[in-house]
Amino acid sequence: MAGESSRTIEPVILLGAPGAGKGTQAKRIEQRYHIPQISTGDILRQNIKAGTPLGHAAKAVMERGQLVPDELVCPMVADRIREIDCERGFILDGFPRTAAQAGWLDAFLENEFFDNSHGCNRLPIVISMDVDYNELLRRLTGRRSCPTCGRIYNVHLQPPKVDELCDNDGSKLVIRDDDREEVIRERLNEFVRQTRPVADYYQAKGRLKTVNGDLPMDQVTAQIFCIIDNHV
Ligand code: AP5
Repeated sequence: MAGESSRTIEPVILLGAPGAGKGTQAKRIEQRYHIPQISTGDILRQNIKAGTPLGHAAKAVMERGQLVPDELVCPMVADRIREIDCERGFILDGFPRTAAQAGWLDAFLENEFFDNSHGCNRLPIVISMDVDYNELLRRLTGRRSCPTCGRIYNVHLQPPKVDELCDNDGSKLVIRDDDREEVIRERLNEFVRQTRPVADYYQAKGRLKTVNGDLPMDQVTAQIFCIIDNHV
């Protein structure tokens, strides 16, 4: 849509359990509204691959399926939001994930983002994607991704045309290190313990919108676009 490439959009926050479809939907929002996806999981994985101090600190925690400490994640997010491509808006995929991160984000946006230079004084659009527990397990155990272009597949639900190869560039698809069953269970436990309270935080402020994430991808996308287009 032509007009979507120039208008300023409030920050979009995607909340949801591991496997809820945050990354899948973030890429679709990015394409339609031309605002960047900020995936804290992807940035942490890039740091691990590059062997940075942040990557060293995060690696063991992520392998256990637990959350990286707030004091490492918040400055990382601040640095990313300050980049020029976020001026018209951005999508947060995987952040905030603790009540403390949510409080930090509110203060950060108030101080640094919601000023006249961005032409945007409104609150973020917070969308929670609700998905049944067994469906989450099925999605995570079947997930494959392309190491070259980042496209996400699912061997049960959305397989590539040729087994284990990316449709876009033919790269061999990979399984994420934390998509082993015992780690998946710990990630889901962490979600219940630490991230559900984030939804409660936004709910208490009257800012939470919920979509049915169990539906097929296109229907989930339609619900999300409707929320963004009608946000006032
Ligand atoms: P992160 O990378 O954020 O992973 P996650 O939250 O566990 O989420 P996933 O990426 O697994 O799932 P998703 O919701 O993006 O689903 P996807 O679209 O891929 O975090 C990893 C780790 O980093 C954390 O455990 C933690 O250690 C650390 N971390 C990250 N952020 C942090 C933070 N803020 N604070 C502290 N630590 C942090 O879809 C999954 C599968 O389902 C795919 O195969 C897809 O094709 C399929 N699918 C998607 N939607 C549908 C649908 N509607 N119908 C059918 N299939 C679908």
